[in-house]
Parts: sequence; structure tokens; C-alpha cells
Amino acid sequence: MNAASKRDRVALIVGASRGLGLGLVREYLARGWSVIATERVAGGSPALAELRGQGGARLTLDVVDIAQPEQIRALAGRLAGVTLDLLFVNAGIADDASKPIGEVTTEDFVNLLCTNALGPMRVVEWLGGGVKPDGTIAVMTSGLGSVGMDPPAGYEAYGASKAALNRLMRGYAVRAGAGRSLLAVMPGWVRTDMGGSAAPLDVDTSVAGIADAIAARAGQPGLHFVDYTNAELPW
Ligand SMILES: NC(=O)c1ccc[n+]([C@@H]2O[C@H](COP(=O)([O-])OP(=O)(O)OC[C@H]3O[C@@H](n4cnc5c(N)ncnc54)[C@H](OP(=O)(O)O)[C@@H]3O)[C@@H](O)[C@H]2O)c1
Repeated sequence: MNAASKRDRVALIVGASRGLGLGLVREYLARGWSVIATERVAGGSPALAELRGQGGARLTLDVVDIAQPEQIRALAGRLAGVTLDLLFVNAGIADDASKPIGEVTTEDFVNLLCTNALGPMRVVEWLGGGVKPDGTIAVMTSGLGSVGMDPPAGYEAYGASKAALNRLMRGYAVRAGAGRSLLAVMPGWVRTDMGGSAAPLDVDTSVAGIADAIAARAGQPGLHFVDYTNAELPW
């Protein structure tokens, strides 16, 4: 029996090969959930393979590159009929933080928008129907995507892509999100490949806080922009 056919609570974590996504997989397994975790390339994540090898009957691996719409469609097809308690789109990329927007190439900007905003929303749109009416749909955003908070210097294109993600989640919430708990999650500044070694938070602290925030808001309809302590942030 695979994770998807069990009656445990089931989470689909998209972008789970390393960093925060991998941390979310560990956290939900530790909380007794079944987890479907995706990587971009089959067998591409030694850490996920190790988790699977540690007797992870509750862990199922799948594959999707969220910049490739046909791969998202294929994932949706494979998971048709699977009821999810949580859909969490964690996958994202950053660019060179120091580049002013005038120096960002069109190709890099489009790549950021497609990976950080369009791709996650395609996952939400095409797989969100599998989430229980009282389940949770979450995307990993950033404080840098807030237009209500003063931005620090840098990360201009990255921040714009996360602002786009936030806006698109708001549109989704108005049109299609009724009933479910919808979250745009800011994980804090976390020590990962993306966050770097100077970040103050470790992955375990961030993902435990995120899972607590999701649990605290489970069954409460509506969209919220929250950080890993469950504090609301200005859009
Ligand atoms: N770390 C921070 O301080 C911080 C702060 C705010 C927001 N965030 C957000 O948190 C999320 C996770 O960040 P992280 O720090 O864990 O970054 P990370 O260590 O760089 O990991 C990024 C993850 O996203 C996956 N990914 C990237 N492009 C993808 C694509 N096209 N399709 C599928 N998966 C893709 C990566 O897969 P591969 O291994 O295949 O590349 C990897 O699993 C991101 O959305 C990021 O923007 C992070």
C-alpha cells in the first residue's frame, strides 16, 4: 500500500529534494502523516532516497519540474483520486541578489516568474481539486514579496516574482478557494542553499513553526500571509 492509498493525513510537498521542502517532508513524517514528496529528477535527491530507505512506507516519491506545465499535468494525472489534507508548493529559485533590475536579463526574469509564480499556481490550480474541502493549500513565498513592508536593498527580481505569487494566490482565493485554508508562507531567513550560511534560522525551527501554523489554521477558510511563527504579514 502506498502513501496515497492510506487513510492517514496526506501531504503533497512539491519541491522536496533539499532545504525547506526536505525539512517539511521530515516534519510531516515525524507527525505521523503520509507524504508524497516531489523532486525535479527521479533519484535526484540522495536525502529523499535515504528517507525512503529508512523504511518510509508513509513516504512516496514523485517527480515534477514546475517550470514544465506538461509535467504538472502528468503529476495531476498520476495523483487523480488521491485525497490530500495538505498541498504545499515549496519549490522556488533565487537569482543574483545584488543585481539591480536594469541588469536582469529578460530570460532570467521570465525564468524567475515562471518558477516562482506561474509554476506554483499551476500546481495549485491543477492539483488543488484533490485537497479535501477542509484541507490546506500553501505556497512558500517570501517577505520580499510583500508590497506593504519596506524592502531591503537587493533581491529586486526575486521579490517581484514572490509579489506575483502573492497576487495570484489572492486571485485564486477570491475565485476558487472557498472553504479551504489557504496560506502564503514566509519561512523566515533560513540556512539553506538559497538562504546561505549567515541566516539566523535552521530548517528544523522554520518547518516546525510552519507545520504548527498550518495545524492552527486547519479548517479555517480564507487566505492568510503568515510567517513561520504564524504571525500575519502585510500583503
Ligand atoms: N531559505 C530562505 O531563507 C527563504 C526565505 C524566504 C523564502 N524562501 C522560499 O522557500 C522555498 C524553499 O527555499 P530553500 O531555501 O529551501 O531553497 P533551496 O535549498 O534552494 O531549495 C529549493 C527547492 O526548490 C526546488 N526547485 C527549484 N526549481 C524547481 C522547479 N522548476 N521544479 C521543481 N522544483 C524546483 C529545488 O529542487 P532541485 O534540488 O531540483 O533544484 C529544491 O528542492 C523557496 O520557494 C524560496 O523562495 C526561502
